[in-house]
Amino acid sequence: MDGNGRWATQRGLPRTEGHKAGADAVMRVLEYCQKYDVRYLTLYAFSTENWKRSVTEVTALMNLLFDFLEKKGQELIKNRIRLRVIGEIERLPWPARRKLQSFIQATEQFTDYNLTLALSYGGRSEIVGAATKLAEQVKAGTLEPSAITEEVFASALQTADIPDPDLIMRTAGEQRLSNFLLWQCSYAEFLFIDTLWPDFAEQDFVGALNAFSQRQRRYGKA
Ligand code: FPP
Repeated sequence: MDGNGRWATQRGLPRTEGHKAGADAVMRVLEYCQKYDVRYLTLYAFSTENWKRSVTEVTALMNLLFDFLEKKGQELIKNRIRLRVIGEIERLPWPARRKLQSFIQATEQFTDYNLTLALSYGGRSEIVGAATKLAEQVKAGTLEPSAITEEVFASALQTADIPDPDLIMRTAGEQRLSNFLLWQCSYAEFLFIDTLWPDFAEQDFVGALNAFSQRQRRYGKA
C-alpha cells in the first residue's frame, strides 16, 4: 500500500495524514472484495523494515491501527470477514495487539471473506521461523528430515491456512517485492500501478481484475 507519504506531501500535509487516508482506502477495498467476490486479501501494512522510520511516524501508524480496529472492527464482524495477522505480532504495542487478538477471535468462525494484515512482517524472517520450527521437531524426534516436503514447509509458515496469492499488486509506481510473501509468491501474477494508495478507487480494483483475467498462467507448462 505505497504512496501514503507522497499523497500527503502533495497536499502540504504531514505524512501521518496520508496514512489516515490510506486506512480509509483499506475500508473501500474491503467493500470491493465483497462486491467482486475476492475472498482473500492480504495487506502489507507494516514491514519489519518500517520500524526504522521516525518514532513519530511509527507511533502514528500503531495508533492508527488501534483506531482502525476500534472504529471498523465491528464492520468486519457485521460483514462476516475473518481477520488474521501475519508477522511478529509480539513486537506491536500491547493495545493494538489486544484489539487484534479480540477481532481475530471474534471473526474466527467466518469462512467466506478473509482479511490478513501483514504487521511487522518480513518474508525472510517468516521463512527462518518455519525452518526453526521444523528443526525443533526434528531435534525432538517427531519429524524425519526426509519428510520435509514443500507442503510440510508451507504448513510451518504463518500463512499455513490461507492460499498462496494469485495476484500481488503494488501501488505508487514502486516495482519491488520488499520482503513480502517470499515463499508464497512463487506463482503469483504481479501488477504495479501508479495510483497512490490513498487514491485507490473502484476503477483500480476492477482494472486489476481485468489485467489478471488476461494473464495466461502456465505454472511452468508449455
Ligand atoms: C507505505 O507508504 C505505507 C505504509 C508503510 C503504511 C501503510 C498503512 C496504511 C495504509 C494505513 C493503516 C493500515 C491499516 C490496516 C489500518 P509510504 O508511507 O511508504 O508512502 P511513500 O512511499 O509515498 O513515502
